[in-house]
Amino acid sequence: GWPFDYRSNRLWGESVPLDRIAEEIGTPCYVYSRAALAAAYEAFDAAFGGRDHLICYAVKANSNLAILNLFARLGSGFDIVSGGELQRVLKAGGDPQKIVFSGVGKRPDEMRAALDAGIFCFNVESRSELEMLDRVAREVKKTAPVSLRVNPDVDAKTHPYISTGLKENKFGIPFEEAESLYALSRQFENLRITGLDCHIGSQLTELAPFAEACGKMLELLDRLQTQGLEIDHLDLGGGLGIRYSGESPPSARDYVNALCGQIGQRKQRVLIEPGRALVGNAGVLLTRVEYLKHSPHRNFAIVDAAMNDLMRPALYDAHHEIVPVISKNDGNVKTYQVVGPVCETGDFLGHDRDLALSEGDLLAIMSAGAYGMSMSSNYNTRPRAAEVMIDGDRIHVIRERESIDQLIAGETIPSWRTAGLD
Ligand code: LLP
Repeated sequence: GWPFDYRSNRLWGESVPLDRIAEEIGTPCYVYSRAALAAAYEAFDAAFGGRDHLICYAVKANSNLAILNLFARLGSGFDIVSGGELQRVLKAGGDPQKIVFSGVGKRPDEMRAALDAGIFCFNVESRSELEMLDRVAREVKKTAPVSLRVNPDVDAKTHPYISTGLKENKFGIPFEEAESLYALSRQFENLRITGLDCHIGSQLTELAPFAEACGKMLELLDRLQTQGLEIDHLDLGGGLGIRYSGESPPSARDYVNALCGQIGQRKQRVLIEPGRALVGNAGVLLTRVEYLKHSPHRNFAIVDAAMNDLMRPALYDAHHEIVPVISKNDGNVKTYQVVGPVCETGDFLGHDRDLALSEGDLLAIMSAGAYGMSMSSNYNTRPRAAEVMIDGDRIHVIRERESIDQLIAGETIPSWRTAGLD
């Protein structure tokens, strides 16, 4: 579906045929649609209507500077989880006053950088982290705005590796301990409690777990208010799923409406931290078939993208649709294992795909905009893929293909003292 559609047997992104990008830029190559990114953001934004809100794009989903800049221009805030992501957001023109800093293991130097930048809020996940943040803030003579990330213990009903809101997960402060920790945090001189936060998991395809978590958060919010704590914002995290193939997740509008309905007349600013839902379906990974290999048991399509480029299938057994860039009506359809060149049995992009393929054909791996490039690696000394942004009928290279020189630039061979080597 839009923004990647077939027109006369060719797959287009907006007004650009994807085979043209493969010819000009080469493969593997991530391709994003500016219009699709903007539309996804605007769907969330519009759904809030007149309510005081802030959408904090979860940078980890795709941290390319061009994408961050696009969202910043649309008014987006950002959810970051490292000093590196902070630098990216600032470099891309993001407003520090719209940044929330999440994550279980913030280092003191990262806290300092975020205090210097003047971010909107730290989402703190433990008592030790509160103490550390207070100490760091005192050293730099600042007051750190704080929200506690509470674990509401709801079942997100998603893949166990990306579910975060159950009490056995490492994330957040146990629901039962939240009130006492809020009470305690008032005693820190260099902290200012401003909000309440949760995040229950990713790729959720139903509203019920969100509603359950939101209900619990509101209950807690009301109790904290009665105890005299001023809570200015409620951050409900990210997690809204997208359609990879068969799923039918709620729309951004239905999701936001459901949350706002529950929040009702409460005055707090509402924050959400969507990642995947903003970028996932706005990107594809273009790859070329290198070899076809037929054995009596299996047909393999060996392509030039691999698990190092898109890790989700290998890591979560995630399903991404794989479609031809030029579709053939007369081809010989076979069932293929679509695999990469990396030396691991787990290096696959899709299992049992019915495709009519010839060597040299181009394929598009769909829904690859989120947690694709951002989770890529250099395993097998494979330079990372190029990234391209389509804007109408124009294409912009937003990240050059990595070179082997860049990849080994930081490495040095020591002057050995071992006998026989000098
Ligand atoms: N906020 C926090 C605190 C998070 O930990 C995450 C994602 C998000 C927001 C954004 O969640 P989203 O809206 O994208 O679901 N690599 C996995 C997903 C890991 C998600 C980690 N946390 C994947 O490829 O499916």
